[in-house]
Amino acid sequence: MFNKLTFWKNQNNTSSTLREKIENIKKLPVPEHVAIIMDGNGRWAKKRSLPRIAGHHEGMKVVRKISKLSNRLGIKTLTLYAFSTENWKRPKTEVDYLMKLPEEFLGTFLPELIEENVQVKMIGYKEQLPNHTLRAIEKAIDKTKDNDGLVLNFALNYGSRAEIIDATKRVLNDCKKGILNEEELNEEVFSSYLMTSNLQDPDLLIRTSGEIRLSNFMLWQLAYSEFWFTDVLWPDFRDQHLLEAIEAYQNRQRRFGGI
Ligand code: FPP
Repeated sequence: MFNKLTFWKNQNNTSSTLREKIENIKKLPVPEHVAIIMDGNGRWAKKRSLPRIAGHHEGMKVVRKISKLSNRLGIKTLTLYAFSTENWKRPKTEVDYLMKLPEEFLGTFLPELIEENVQVKMIGYKEQLPNHTLRAIEKAIDKTKDNDGLVLNFALNYGSRAEIIDATKRVLNDCKKGILNEEELNEEVFSSYLMTSNLQDPDLLIRTSGEIRLSNFMLWQLAYSEFWFTDVLWPDFRDQHLLEAIEAYQNRQRRFGGI
């Protein structure tokens, strides 16, 4: 018979299993930088006959949960693809809503992020962002700049090809000005011209919702990353899925082109 006690016990069992899993995972090296393409919000909403924005809102709640777990696991950086340079093609109402989410998220959770020692960062083109979006992000970046826990890095209005072209232009410009010598240009120097110059490359890329593509996300930085794909839609993504991805990562042998 179902009663409150059974319910409480079940809840408790689930969390103790999860706790055990977390402890086991922490015994092995965890990926230092995890990047996630959070996909499937629209389909999640459609399955429930809800507007697409309901999926994005639910997705925002998952961002909070996954950031908390990442911090707890000792992951150093979590990069989340929140809006691509191509996403402007979506209907204006959806774009407007997506641009309000950082404000809503940070308006609610910034105190919690500060308390949990999380450092907020952003990669992407700030110029096209509405003022209210940029203000919310910049405030969070400023308020968390002295924290040294998880770096929660939002990829917002981010596009990797544009980033590479811009970096190339700046390299050429610096060569022309004599600030950089063509002979000095190598992968490390080129990386320093990218938006991720202060971050290490992702060790693990996760994409949800069953799509198996990169969609112009961190093309340079993902060169040697491990990829993990799941059919789970982002709003349904839970702690157990992140743990599953990390376990898979821990079972892989990274060879970086060696043998
Ligand atoms: C892709 O799913 C998702 C996005 C373009 C937006 C992702 C944004 C969030 C998860 C919220 C971000 C939260 C903060 C705090 C910035 P889709 O809409 O393409 O889904 P579909 O492929 O099922 O249509």
